[in-house]
This record gives sequence, C-alpha cells and structure tokens, in this order.
Amino acid sequence: MMKATAVANANIALVKYWGKRDKKLILPQNSNISMTCDGMTTTTTVEFSDKYKEHSVVINDEEFQKDEKDIHGHIDRISRLAGIKDKARVVSESNFPVAAGLASSASGFAALTVAAAAAAGLKLSPKDLSILTRQGSGSACRSIFGGFVEWHRGKMPDGLDSYAESIVDKNYWPEFRMIATIVQKGKKPVTSRAGMAQTVETCPYYEGWLGTVTDDLKMIKEGIKERDFKKVAQAAEHNCLKMHALMMTTKPAIIYWIPATIEIIQNVLAWREEGVKCYFTIDAGPNVKILCLEKDEKEINKRLLKLEGVIETMICRPGDGAKLIDKHLF
Ligand code: DP6
Repeated sequence: MMKATAVANANIALVKYWGKRDKKLILPQNSNISMTCDGMTTTTTVEFSDKYKEHSVVINDEEFQKDEKDIHGHIDRISRLAGIKDKARVVSESNFPVAAGLASSASGFAALTVAAAAAAGLKLSPKDLSILTRQGSGSACRSIFGGFVEWHRGKMPDGLDSYAESIVDKNYWPEFRMIATIVQKGKKPVTSRAGMAQTVETCPYYEGWLGTVTDDLKMIKEGIKERDFKKVAQAAEHNCLKMHALMMTTKPAIIYWIPATIEIIQNVLAWREEGVKCYFTIDAGPNVKILCLEKDEKEINKRLLKLEGVIETMICRPGDGAKLIDKHLF
C-alpha cells in the first residue's frame, strides 16, 4: 500500500537561519541550531495512487492554496526520486496556529517528507531525509531530529553536506523549556522566504551578522553540552535580536513586532532583574518564545498569562524527531 503517516514536531531556532546562499536548493548562509518542541505537532498522511488525477493537499480541513512554499513541487521531488508517476492525496493537521512565526512549515514539511518518502517506497537515512526536507523548507530539515539540532551550512554547491544533525537527544536536558506565547494568530505580513531574500540583498549589516554567528554557534553548542542555561539562553536572545535588527534594517523594513511583543520583551527583562531566570526569542512573526527551566516554568507562565496582549501559551520541552505512525488521517 502506498500510504503512510508521519508526525513531526515544530522547532524553534536558538541560532537563526535568515538568508540563503542558494534559493533553489535552499542552502543557508550560516549554520544554525534549534530545539525540537514536544507537543507542537503536525500529523500528515500521504497516499500515492493512480486513482488521483492530480495532487490534492488539505491542511487543517482547508484545501491548500498555492503559495511560495511549493508543496506540490515537493511531492513531485519525492515521487521523481522514487520513480513513481502516481499523484498524491495529502491530509495534514497541526495543533497550533499556522504561519504566525510558530514554525508550522517546519513540522509540516518534515511530516510531509517522512510520510511521502515512506508512501513512495523510499528507504532513506535520517540524514538523507533531512536533505530532502530542506529542499521544501529550510528550517524543516531540523525537525527530522529530536532534542537539540544543528543544521550545517555545508560548502558543496549540490547541498549534500547541508543537513541537520542531532547535538543531543531530548533526554539529555529534559528540564529545558520554551514557552510559546501567542499574541496574534493571523498570517504574517512578510513571509520568511521573501523577507530573508530581501535582507540578504539590501541589509547593510548582513556581513556583520555572518561575522558574529560563529561565536553564537560555539557558545550555544557548548552551553547545551554543559547544560548551562544562562550560556544558551543569553546567546540565543542576543542572536534573535541581531536577526530582528537585520529585518528592521532591510529595505523596505520588515517589522514583525506588535505592541504585545514589546510588552513581553520589557517584562522578561524586568523579571530577570528580579532574579527570575528567563530569556526570549522571536521568529518571523510577533509571537515570543520564552526560554526557561522546568523549575521556573509555572511562575513565568502565570506572569505571561496576566499580560494584556497574551492570548495563550504553550509550554514545550525538548521533543522527538519526525517519525512514522500507524494511524492514518484517511
Ligand atoms: C525566522 O525555514 O520558513 O524561523 O527555507 O524559505 O522555507 P524557507 O524559510 P523558513 O525560515 C525560518 C526562519 C526563522 C529562523 C529559523 O527557524 O531558523
């Protein structure tokens, strides 16, 4: 049977990916690091069959509208690799807001790739699955692995050395937490794909970013291995602010923050002054992810939920990489 279902968790970057050196193969300008988030999950079933006349993709009960992230093209890429001509039916469900800087495309493309590859009869290693996933959406290649993950920039023009790899698995540092704090659920004004391309082209500080990212990578990798919360979280917050400085100094400016974003940032800084150990990171959207440890999670979550602009929070610990499951969505 040419049908398979996969689940994948979203991931949140601690060292960000913001810029490609090859847009077609999706090769990043710099290596980057993320945590795979338990519980921010996409489940996807793929079936290839000659009964389908064309690919159909349903995401969260809605027929997928074509956008810059070419899901159909990604399915074609996988069926080409497997040498099959059949069309696919894809049904996908996520348990968190799509396209609001909450990495829905990461869990989405990882689940799609793992399910479609299995449905097409391909037997690929996690490394090769991550190379294949990367060509659908860059950050998604990190969601193939659980725990803390590095996506290597690579040097080769064909991208075969640009893949994700586990730094440590989810059980190495189970106390680490990301509290995804939702302040807006709508779609973002500028997609990450278009935004990062514009940044590479026009931001005068891009060289400065590339020049300092190596230090952030080193610091965060060491910090993860040493389970040194402050080392990791401080460097992650700094890296996030550098990325947003790039966005803001792109022409035209890309500003993802809304008042509630700043409200959270200011509060996190104030709480830290009081001795509460929390830091923040923000992706291509207004929502803020708070980094903390298990022992402080309840107190910080309580404080977050009291802020005016906060709609809801999701507390995530390090989660599993993408995997196949038996229960199909159709
Ligand atoms: C800000 O992976 O969505 O979340 O490769 O064009 O699909 P494409 O971009 P995408 O960009 C993610 C950007 C980010 C930072 C990160 O996750 O590293």
